[in-house]
Amino acid sequence: MSQFTQILLKQRPDGKPFGAHMFDVVKKDLPEISADQVLIKQTHMSLDPAMIGWMSPDTNSYIPRVELGEVMRSSGFGEVVASNNPNFAVGDKVMGMMGWTEYFVSNGKGINKVQAGVNAEMALAVFALPGLTATQGLFNVGKPKAGETLVVTGAAGSVGSLVGQLAKADGLRVIGVVGSDEKVDWIVNGLGFDGAINYKTDDLEAKLAELTPDGVDVFFENTGGPIQQHIYNRMNIHGRIVVCGMIADYKVGEPSPGPNWINLIKKRVTVQGFAMPDHYGEVPALLAKLTPYVMQGKIKFRTHELAGLESAMEGLNLFFTGEHKGKLLVKL
Ligand SMILES: NC(=O)c1ccc[n+]([C@@H]2O[C@H](COP(=O)([O-])OP(=O)(O)OC[C@H]3O[C@@H](n4cnc5c(N)ncnc54)[C@H](OP(=O)(O)O)[C@@H]3O)[C@@H](O)[C@H]2O)c1
Repeated sequence: MSQFTQILLKQRPDGKPFGAHMFDVVKKDLPEISADQVLIKQTHMSLDPAMIGWMSPDTNSYIPRVELGEVMRSSGFGEVVASNNPNFAVGDKVMGMMGWTEYFVSNGKGINKVQAGVNAEMALAVFALPGLTATQGLFNVGKPKAGETLVVTGAAGSVGSLVGQLAKADGLRVIGVVGSDEKVDWIVNGLGFDGAINYKTDDLEAKLAELTPDGVDVFFENTGGPIQQHIYNRMNIHGRIVVCGMIADYKVGEPSPGPNWINLIKKRVTVQGFAMPDHYGEVPALLAKLTPYVMQGKIKFRTHELAGLESAMEGLNLFFTGEHKGKLLVKL
């Protein structure tokens, strides 16, 4: 192959569904690599809700936005197909921020070799952003204790499903909030959560009260939306609210109003937001915490794979419809 495909950001989100009108699909000549460089054939790309923020006009977020005309940013998994870098050999499986591109040239910085036995799906669904986020947010922000009750929103998603399983493994009562009966069934019967709420069909207040008779100690927030106020109302004294994501607000012009703060005083509740780019220096420690749970078979995951680079453009809509089941990936 002498040419390959890349996708560049052409237009910022405008509230309409994501699709080809926002991107330029371009052909490039396969480059020659120079001294110290490697050429990587990307085989799997990760799609993440964070991309919506990276595409937005906001210049005041936790990392720089993607500029118009730049390759759309994403993490991915691939194989080294040529190397002038002593740290990488042809055939090495690697991960890193490669973007929406079939091939990627790197000097090795920010590219990590993947351990033998870890396939692309497990690497991107567990050991990349979802697992690091779940581990940082749950243990370092949520500070869970055995016997406590945790409620996690977006509970069948990449982050939420890991949060719930880690908390279950540590002896918490775990309730998940999801958007379909299929996801209710998966997190309860497939992952072992103690209960689930379908935020689209259940009576939120009544169902939450039934499933959290002792109140809520840790609230791991991935979505926002109307369930937030009900969970907030059930927080126990010295509870912790881990603010990880607010996907219900990512496409609306006005963010929804938050709960009244009086409860924070009465219950001495801690609310803390976090963003993973602050914690990349802690990745080895986060992986050291997460890996034993995986090795002990306590972590299950599923992936939803789209086919071909160009499927990424419309694939982003799945985050808002919830039609994907598991970690959203693009297989190249
Ligand atoms: N702070 C950080 O550093 C960090 C890092 C990674 C991810 N995040 C955040 O964590 C959250 C989860 O990310 P993920 O990668 O695991 O995504 P995901 O859960 O796999 O996908 C997003 C899910 O959100 C649910 N959703 C969409 N619109 C909703 C709405 N209006 N109300 C309630 N739920 C809605 C959908 O599930 P249902 O079918 O259940 O509705 C959808 O499947 C996102 O908000 C993301 O931005 C934060």
